[in-house]
Amino acid sequence: MRIPLIAGNWKMFKTKTEAAAFAEEFKALYRGTDVQAAICAPFTDLELLVESFRGTGIGVGAQNVHFEDEGAYTGEISVKMLEEIGVDFCIVGHSERRQYFAETDETVNLKIKKLLSGSIRPIMCVGESLEQRDSGVLFDFVKSQLEGGLKGISPEDMKRIVVAYEPIWAIGTSRTAAPEQAEEMCAFIRQTLIEMYGEEVADEVVIQYGGSVKPANATEIMNQDEIDGALVGGASLKAPDFMQIIDF
Ligand code: 13P
Repeated sequence: MRIPLIAGNWKMFKTKTEAAAFAEEFKALYRGTDVQAAICAPFTDLELLVESFRGTGIGVGAQNVHFEDEGAYTGEISVKMLEEIGVDFCIVGHSERRQYFAETDETVNLKIKKLLSGSIRPIMCVGESLEQRDSGVLFDFVKSQLEGGLKGISPEDMKRIVVAYEPIWAIGTSRTAAPEQAEEMCAFIRQTLIEMYGEEVADEVVIQYGGSVKPANATEIMNQDEIDGALVGGASLKAPDFMQIIDF
């Protein structure tokens, strides 16, 4: 039985003061549902959000992590640092990190392995560019991201990973993938996981869609069979919008 995960990705938005205001507003609106809700926030907001959401069932996630335990890596944050704060999730391999910060399938793989050695669940992002979609290589590309990012990960560990399908052309563009397009790729991702891990494991993996999800399209997206949740950028910055999406 897969529990849907609807996670906000705040990207580089919200200071600690702004995060505190969001948390108060969101908690006042929030009613527990069958869906796991979470906010993936900038590092500077995480501790405050964990404290604020304690006992509510609302999860907290980071947006990146380093794959070494510790060391001379100026500007980086370790898994242990996130664990001590009490973070539940960590996004890995978002297309913005792949594009602007040289994230590769290899570093995605190392980060996922490090997270899985502890308690934090990775949210691994995959997705094609518009050129890749138009030239027909979209499935091969997403498969290569899955195979590279998941290399050497055991079946038991795979069950703890969330896969987020985020077509790059649908991120922040208000050009949402049609529900059928999102469903087609999420079904392909599950099929690839069946080939890699067998049906029993693949059946337990939560697969999200991300890219211009908003209150107006959340129901249609969440009603697709192979889509178990959403990774929400812009619309997660406003508490009422995010609550509406969770309530889809
Ligand atoms: P938008 O919802 O703003 O398109 O962002 C999607 C995203 O990148 C979530 O990780």
